[in-house]
Amino acid sequence: MKPIIAPSILSADFAYLAKDLEMVNRSEADWVHIDVMDGVFVPNISFGFPVLKYVAKLSKKPLDVHLMIVQPEKFINEVKALGAHTMNVHFEASDVYKRQVLLMSVNPGFGGQKFIEHTVEKVRELRALIDSTGSKALIEVDGGVNLETGARLIAAGADALVAGSAVFAAPDPEGMIHSLKDL
Ligand code: DX5
Ligand code: ZN
Repeated sequence: MKPIIAPSILSADFAYLAKDLEMVNRSEADWVHIDVMDGVFVPNISFGFPVLKYVAKLSKKPLDVHLMIVQPEKFINEVKALGAHTMNVHFEASDVYKRQVLLMSVNPGFGGQKFIEHTVEKVRELRALIDSTGSKALIEVDGGVNLETGARLIAAGADALVAGSAVFAAPDPEGMIHSLKDL
């Protein structure tokens, strides 16, 4: 089965966000990954719900919302109001959602970081654990994903890949999404 590909708009050009979202709409991407950061839970601030309202309006792909904020449970209604497909939160808050596990493969906060190698092993262990319980939860991996790390993550049992800089810094972002989808 082909992997689920979720381009992360953290690496998009915010001055031309509509243009980048149109590219994602045209592409073979399955979801749009959206990183909300508050500068407290992680050492960076990205964007919030007033911006996401327009992202939701422009995106034809389901929204994969990643909340890197303190007390994410406070914003469940805002995420629902966006019509989001998924809400990813950090582990301590994860009992609010169990359809998908998001494994971070960089220290959360910034795009374009180096892939943390032992994530591949974590994916393998998590795959075995999920399969042994009969759960249908998806494993999504976020951070440092490119064609090389992506291929290894899929082989280890990942279902979904988030890719920010690998997509948006590519000379042909739509072609890169196609290549990731083909892994
Ligand atoms: C990082 C974010 C990621 C980020 C990934 O904290 O959660 O979604 O956009 O960017 P890349 O793919 O460039 O590592
Ligand atoms: Zn993310």
